[in-house]
Amino acid sequence: MALCVGLIGFGTVGSGAVKTLLANATQIQQRAGTEITLQAIADLDWETDRGVDVSNVKRTTDAWELIRDPDIDVIVELVGGTTIAKELVLGALEHQKDVVTANKALLAAHGAELFRAADRQGRKIHFEGAVGGGIPIIQTLYGGLASARIREIHAIINGTSNYILTQMGEHGRSFETVLREAQKLGYAEMDPSYDVDGNDAAHKIVVLASICFGTAIPLEDVYTQGIRDITVEDIRFGEKLGYRLKLLAIAKDLDGEVEVRVHPTFIPKSQLLAWVHGVFNAVNTYAEGLGSTMLYGRGAGDWPTGHAVVSDLIQCARDRLARRPADYAYFYTPAKSLRPMSEVITEYYLRFVVKDQPRVLSKIAGILGEHNISILSVLQTEASRDNVCPIVIMTHKAREGDMLHALSQIEELDVVMAAPKLIRLEHMNPQRG
Ligand code: HSE
Repeated sequence: MALCVGLIGFGTVGSGAVKTLLANATQIQQRAGTEITLQAIADLDWETDRGVDVSNVKRTTDAWELIRDPDIDVIVELVGGTTIAKELVLGALEHQKDVVTANKALLAAHGAELFRAADRQGRKIHFEGAVGGGIPIIQTLYGGLASARIREIHAIINGTSNYILTQMGEHGRSFETVLREAQKLGYAEMDPSYDVDGNDAAHKIVVLASICFGTAIPLEDVYTQGIRDITVEDIRFGEKLGYRLKLLAIAKDLDGEVEVRVHPTFIPKSQLLAWVHGVFNAVNTYAEGLGSTMLYGRGAGDWPTGHAVVSDLIQCARDRLARRPADYAYFYTPAKSLRPMSEVITEYYLRFVVKDQPRVLSKIAGILGEHNISILSVLQTEASRDNVCPIVIMTHKAREGDMLHALSQIEELDVVMAAPKLIRLEHMNPQRG
């Protein structure tokens, strides 16, 4: 029996999914073990040309028509957002349909409720397209890495931010100009603040961490810092010291506690992740015994995410044929607590703007020392005409709470001319090799 699909939302990803279904129809049927038939599409806009012929598919503006249609087995939700999309997904599950979605915001905010509903209804939610676009990270975690005890994830999962940081670093271009370009290229979210303020990456790391660590992660408690305050100057200082700046999504399983955070991060150039440029995404997992595994690819766009959606449809068809049950309990069971940011231990890049005069460095170093913060290296460049100069300090590992106390005292010094700049630094699995 064919798998009958109802597609809600015929935008960039929706049209990519339809193009994939048409382009690879024979192979898809072979791999799914059954034909995958696009029964109907719901969208409010039937004027825009999507570059794909759907004249033989039923078209409507009423999404609920698809949900109520008894012939449809699976609803593909590509509406986006967390309000209407949530009602549609819950409605689809209640009507005994499986769901395929690429909506990371929805899963991160309401995953507990949705997966509980799926378990109750004995239905499945597939979401390969929600994280990393065309990178098959979700099915890899459920499949090839299912045996692995993953302890750390370091991920570049927002292409827009990575594109901006790459352009700023390589060409010294301004944040605003590059953001506008990313929007034109179709990578940015409808509201680009989701990209540059780190929320999109936070949504995605919540999904990955829940799967990897088997625990619910409250999105609102995830430390999230974007790239708005990043300057070309900081990127260049980091380069000089051997580091690349990335908006990193980080998750760690620390036995009983988990750490989940998103912020601009310096990583040594010797790490593969440092070489992920432009709109590309990459996810590096570290598992005991297995070591590091990295997936790299296109994290957004019509074809890449369309592929992810269709691979979910194939998975959906296989699961139905095999009558394979789902168990999403870990998405809504808080098995481990989230470590507060003040307790996070990491290395730091600090930049101070100071008066170039005697004892300045010793005053700053003294305060850091009093807070148990050990200096790794110091870089000072020549003062400008007004006798002000930057000092960059790299530190050994320190507790975030200690660091923030120290910085607030340093900011009070009369020789310090601006708020100190802090950028965290990560080595992938340093102690574990
Ligand atoms: N706006 C996202 C990004 C793409 O820039 O990576 C979709 O997740």
